[in-house]
Amino acid sequence: MSPVVVLLARMYESNPPLLGNWGGWSVILFLIPLYYARFHWDEVVKLREAFNKTVDLLSNTIDAKDSHTFLHSERVTAIASALARAYGLDAAQINTIEKGSRIHDIGKIGIPDAVLFKPGSLTEEEYNIIKKHPEYGVRLLEPASDYLSETFDIIKYHHERWDGRGYPEGLAGQEIPLWARIVGLADAYEAMTAGRPYQKAKTPEDALREIEDLAGIQFDPKLVRLFREIWETNPAWRDREVFLRLYSSKVPSLESSSPPSLEREPETSQKSS
Ligand SMILES: [Fe+2]
Repeated sequence: MSPVVVLLARMYESNPPLLGNWGGWSVILFLIPLYYARFHWDEVVKLREAFNKTVDLLSNTIDAKDSHTFLHSERVTAIASALARAYGLDAAQINTIEKGSRIHDIGKIGIPDAVLFKPGSLTEEEYNIIKKHPEYGVRLLEPASDYLSETFDIIKYHHERWDGRGYPEGLAGQEIPLWARIVGLADAYEAMTAGRPYQKAKTPEDALREIEDLAGIQFDPKLVRLFREIWETNPAWRDREVFLRLYSSKVPSLESSSPPSLEREPETSQKSS
């Protein structure tokens, strides 16, 4: 029997009664705050669920904006989540990394389409505009900082590089928040295997080789070692086509009622992701 029920029974039977001349008064007095606590908790859970759905909606919005990057945020999330688990992070941290991965490129909403979808190489000026998307993202989400502030480091620093040549602040090595290093690596692998309008997608093997070549240059060497280990055992995200096949049906297509195509156009450049 539940301890609360036992407690209520004792309160009811106490002689003399704790309150007034009837044991029921004590029970009623105890139940009122209990009811409100339960009501408040239900509201908190509902609010959290609604907010998680809003994050999913934002993620779908980013992916839908550019058909070249179909399911990009979802796949980055799957890779970053596996990497965070392999690193030994706890459930709460993995949850934050997943949330941050889903919306890491939200700032692209503030980048003009002519620059974002330009077929071909970017000029230096255009690249400088693209480089603003991490800071735009944080600014866009500032009003929701009560719920999302823990993801801000991911959004702001996912394009920093281990050698300090990334953006927006040129942080190096351990200065880059771990969560951003994890998402940055996942983002780069996803971009390499998705390709660009002017560059063919790399095979998973070639992309892995490039990631390993860039250990200690662009990526945290420890994360690259872990990445290699989980890459071997994770076909669900290792190969983009397998991932699209598994996940396409989970995201509503805006194009038609026909099944989502697995032959998407290549993705934008890694530089601009
Ligand atoms: Fe990005």
